[in-house]
Amino acid sequence: MADLLITHIKGLVQVRDHTRSPIAGSDMSHLPVLDDAYLVMEDGLIADYGPMSAMPPVQANRTMMATGRFVFPGFVDSHTHLVFAAPREEEFVMKLKGATYADIAAKGGGILNSAKKLQAMSEEELFVRSLPRALEIIRSGTGAVEIKSGYGLTVKDELKMLRVARRLGVETPLTVKTTFLGAHAVPPGHSRDSYVRLVIDEMLPAVAIEKLADYVDVFCEQGFFTPEETVEISEAGKKLGMTPRIHANQLHRSGGVQAGVKAGAISVDHLENIGDEEIECLKGSATMPTTLPGAAFFLNLPMPPARALIGAGLPVAIASDYNPGSSPSGNMPLMLSLACIRMKMTPEEAVNAATLNTAYTLGLLESHGSITRGKHANVFITKPMPSVSYLPYAYGSNLIETVILGGKVVA
Ligand code: NIG
Ligand code: FE
Repeated sequence: MADLLITHIKGLVQVRDHTRSPIAGSDMSHLPVLDDAYLVMEDGLIADYGPMSAMPPVQANRTMMATGRFVFPGFVDSHTHLVFAAPREEEFVMKLKGATYADIAAKGGGILNSAKKLQAMSEEELFVRSLPRALEIIRSGTGAVEIKSGYGLTVKDELKMLRVARRLGVETPLTVKTTFLGAHAVPPGHSRDSYVRLVIDEMLPAVAIEKLADYVDVFCEQGFFTPEETVEISEAGKKLGMTPRIHANQLHRSGGVQAGVKAGAISVDHLENIGDEEIECLKGSATMPTTLPGAAFFLNLPMPPARALIGAGLPVAIASDYNPGSSPSGNMPLMLSLACIRMKMTPEEAVNAATLNTAYTLGLLESHGSITRGKHANVFITKPMPSVSYLPYAYGSNLIETVILGGKVVA
């Protein structure tokens, strides 16, 4: 007996029989949509789908009609910092009055401000503060999420963050992947060198012993960590089973893309400041260029050149970067709108970028990112709407009516 049957779906979006690789270049403009469709979920997985005209008799515990509505696979948000102690709206106001992100960071604000608050908070309290954010992104259509550390900056506080991130994966229906980002900023009392040693010699092994992180990340940026340090930390993480994913080229042309590719990173994220050299470097690599349009928008930075990346035959991914400093939103439909409006991606490209391409970077291609038999039954049903393009077009509207994760209605 099936758990759930959805019938009369106006458009079943991102239907693919097989998904073996990310979607690149001109293929990104192809988004398969099945009109007037049904979808069957069983044991938490997608069991079957097809056109209504060919629907076999199905016994299901629950049947929903989705007349006029679209069904999408849950978004895969491959870059967030959603475990944090407190928001930083006071820095937002400082920025409105003319301060830059770098000015605020240099005065001990920014990441160090978040670290101070997080260090003073118990693990339980940190979980209690972070849980509503996880539930919020579920309501906006996210089914799988990557969560980074990086506001701990001591061994014990980095471990605390990662335990909270892991616990969110246990206590919510989200699929959670975790990333150790000890090299997010140099905390007071350390030189860059002494802190890099702490990250490599103490933090990484402690994280590995508790199996707290799937990935290792470095903020490769002027005033933060150099490309050489990025490669060194990445290599140390790899030896402990963590795949690198790198914060690259957010504020400057810092060599982050080249460092990420050299270290075999699965993804280089941000890319506000890249040119032909970085695009050339990405060609022929397995490294995904991931754009974070919310962060570029919120900090008024140039948008990553998504059209040039796609034009070069590369894949592009879109994630939210949900964090208190540079992107206080984990709303993936809004990220799609920004990608379309500000990076000139088409709605089809944006959906591919935020589902299959992000799933690729999290090793979730087998289980997430599309409507495919055997994948997790993670989908959302929209409100009645005229077309797929309407979702990014009607920016700021909440168009998600029902969220189903693991075959169960959760929102
Ligand atoms: O991805 N750039 C570095 N890290 C975050 C921002 C962190 C913060 O400001 O708290 C980002 O934008
Ligand atoms: Fe980030």
